[in-house]
Amino acid sequence: MKGIILAGGYGTRLLPCTKVTNKHLLPVYDKPMILYPLETLIAAGIKDIMIVSGTGHAGHFLELLGSGKDMGIRLSYAVQEKAGGIAEALGLCEDFADNDKIAVVLGDNIFTDQEQIKKAVADFINQEKGAKILIKEVPDPKRFGVAELDGDRVVSIIEKPEDPKSNYAVTGFYCYDKEVWNIIKTLKPSGRGELEITDVNNYYLATSILTYEMYKDEWTDAGTFESLLRASNIIANRK
Ligand code: DAU
Repeated sequence: MKGIILAGGYGTRLLPCTKVTNKHLLPVYDKPMILYPLETLIAAGIKDIMIVSGTGHAGHFLELLGSGKDMGIRLSYAVQEKAGGIAEALGLCEDFADNDKIAVVLGDNIFTDQEQIKKAVADFINQEKGAKILIKEVPDPKRFGVAELDGDRVVSIIEKPEDPKSNYAVTGFYCYDKEVWNIIKTLKPSGRGELEITDVNNYYLATSILTYEMYKDEWTDAGTFESLLRASNIIANRK
């Protein structure tokens, strides 16, 4: 199993802070944001990890994290030239994955319970094929991909729906088998001009297996000033 952190994009919702640095290098309480998804993958036992960043401040990731040797892991880096979407950024990692199953974390997602992620990864290693997502009940589902559930089945996922069918947000943690690379090649840009990870998940839903787990502990993204503050408070309160 290999790990991927997607840390591209422009971080425009955090301007002017993102004018001279990358969103994922901003502090969440006492650490640069990127360290949280990195620790999530390391806690799951993953040792081979690729970080995809955008242009501009790409070298800063290398300066911060280096080869990964200090953390007992191997880090690789890729650069996404333009913010063409989460699925486009993921598509850059095909050679790195080398047909292994992958665990993907969005660079601005903070998960507090690493044990559950570790178990989800272990379960996915035993899953015959397909994909796995983590879902979290939230008060503001319109900001996310929203899943409609029926028992242990995902019925549909809609990206940022006007009128959400549930409060179940799809978090930025995904496990995929090697089919993901073929799926990404079929995608067309969405209305916002991006290759959407939600389209990848819906493709699995229609053609393969998409399992889900309800994430029990605290989770947030950190891509807006409000959620960045929430992320810092969640971490500070746990110290
Ligand atoms: O946080 C979970 C949500 O993340 C999901 O519920 C949504 O389904 C998913 O689309 C995504 O929504 P956002 O609109 O919040 O994604 P955002 O554009 O903020 O990107 C999240 C991370 O993905 C970002 O921190 C870096 C990475 N990314 C994003 C884009 C657009 C890239 O690596 N490249 C990109 O081009």
